[in-house]
Amino acid sequence: MTLGKVLVSERDIAQAVERVVEEITQDYGDGDLLLVGVMDGAVCFLADLMRAFPRSVEMTTIRATSYEGTESLGELTVNNLPTPEQIRGRHVLIVEDIVDTGATVSVLAQKIEALGATSVNVCALLNKPSRREHDVETAYICFDVPDVFVVGYGLDYNGEFRNLREVRELSNVE
Ligand code: IMP
Repeated sequence: MTLGKVLVSERDIAQAVERVVEEITQDYGDGDLLLVGVMDGAVCFLADLMRAFPRSVEMTTIRATSYEGTESLGELTVNNLPTPEQIRGRHVLIVEDIVDTGATVSVLAQKIEALGATSVNVCALLNKPSRREHDVETAYICFDVPDVFVVGYGLDYNGEFRNLREVRELSNVE
C-alpha cells in the first residue's frame, strides 16, 4: 500500500471550510446550532469548521466505527451517544469526514432524531456519490471524490495517515 496523489490540498480544504460555514450561517443565522462531530474521522474537520464560525457555536462528539482496512464491516458501532437532555429541541448538524454508502449518517441521523432533535442536517468534508446505498440528505458538502480509498485530514487506513494535512488517494490496498 502506498500513498497516492493529493486529491484535496490543505489550501482547498481551508477555502471549502470557509464556504460551508458561510452556507450554514446563511441558513441558521444566529439561531440554535449544535455540531455533533463523528469521531475519529471528523477530528480535523470539526476543529477547523467550528473555529471558522463568526459566532459562538456549541459542539459535542459521537463515536461511530464500521471500517476495518478499506472494507466496511457492515455493522455500525456507536459509542457515547448524547443524552436526550443534550439533544431535545436542538438544531443538530452532524459533522462527518466522508459520506460513502451513507449507512453511518443515516443511522446517526435516526438516532439523533429519536433523541428529540428539532432538526438534523449533515455537513461532510467528502462525498462519494457513486457508492451511495442509503438515501441521505447531505446539506453541506465540501468536495465530491471518486470511488477510491482516501486518507488524511482525519481519515485513516487502520489508524494510519490521519495526521496528513491534505487528502490523498491510497493505492495498492488489499
Ligand atoms: P458509510 O457508512 O459507508 O457512509 O461510511 C462512512 C465511514 O466510512 C466514514 O465515516 C469513514 O470512517 C469510512 N470511510 C468510507 N470511505 C472511506 C475512505 O475512502 N477512507 C477512509 N475512511 C472511509
